[in-house]
Amino acid sequence: MINQIQHIPILLDEVINALSLTEDEIYIDATFGLGGYTKAILSKQNCKVIAIDRDPETKIVADNLKKVFTDRLYFINGKFSELGKFLEELKICKVGGVVFDLGVSSPQLDIKNRGFSFKLDGPLDMRMSSEGPTAAEFLDVVEENTLANIIFELGDEVFSKRIAKSIIHHRTINKIKTTHQLARIIRDAIPVKKRKIDPATKTFQAIRIYLNDEINELKKGLIAAEKVLKPGGRLAVVSFHSIEDRIVKKFFLKCLKTNSLSRHLPEIPKKEPSLEILTKKPILPSTKEINLNKRSRSAKLRIAMRTNFVSTFGEIA
Ligand SMILES: C[S@@+](CC[C@H](N)C(=O)[O-])C[C@H]1O[C@@H](n2cnc3c(N)ncnc32)[C@H](O)[C@@H]1O
Repeated sequence: MINQIQHIPILLDEVINALSLTEDEIYIDATFGLGGYTKAILSKQNCKVIAIDRDPETKIVADNLKKVFTDRLYFINGKFSELGKFLEELKICKVGGVVFDLGVSSPQLDIKNRGFSFKLDGPLDMRMSSEGPTAAEFLDVVEENTLANIIFELGDEVFSKRIAKSIIHHRTINKIKTTHQLARIIRDAIPVKKRKIDPATKTFQAIRIYLNDEINELKKGLIAAEKVLKPGGRLAVVSFHSIEDRIVKKFFLKCLKTNSLSRHLPEIPKKEPSLEILTKKPILPSTKEINLNKRSRSAKLRIAMRTNFVSTFGEIA
């Protein structure tokens, strides 16, 4: 099934340029998906890729790519927050670049059984891996206030309280089992009918981010990536909404921050920047790319380069 879905990699040329690929180097594709970036990296340079994805279905794609690139590709079914541990197990200390392409993939959105899309009617699942509760199980037990906060914070939805109230009301009548059931409840709960986007968009996004613990994953993944980069190594992150982009921006700034006072206070070690920011402003897709691929329209790419100074978060091995 996953092999039949088409996915156009987003900001592909920009990401490949950002990585500044060199021969015999090792790169990490932290969000393998349908392997669009991995394939481009391995085709462009005689290097190796360690590809990570938490979705077990992506292994099928990796197995197919391995037929072409053999031992230049190593696939791990796991979470990118654990990439430091994966490298330790492989006895690899440092890598030349790490790329993240956040969020959901085309197959996750376009296969109705995955339950991510309000456009297709499927079981309310929304899990990237098969771990943890499904969206249906979660909505069956969550408290109204907690749900309202999740929808507000992770979906930026001003009608969060109304939506949460309506979900709780409906679940007492009938279990909410499908994506279309949930989408209808959300649409009916929102007074403003004329929105540019489907009224269910923000709530679906919020529940998905919460269930997959995407904010913590991103924070941990960035820290892990910074630790494993060798000096000159690149960190490229493509994000799709303001919550993610804010985290990436803040993280880059934290790694850039120096501790200039410490020169006069020997007990506090002087902190030098561990990352140099290569994109003062994020790189956005061109109008041509947006016209070709609507899913690229909210993408933002930020790039940083590891310096020679010690890691802000501690080195591995
Ligand atoms: C936007 S897609 C990547 C598409 C890919 N760049 C391509 O060109 O085919 C994002 C992928 O990241 C995976 N993912 C999201 N969060 C993850 C995490 N914390 N750890 C590992 N994989 C994750 C998803 O399962 C999904 O397959």
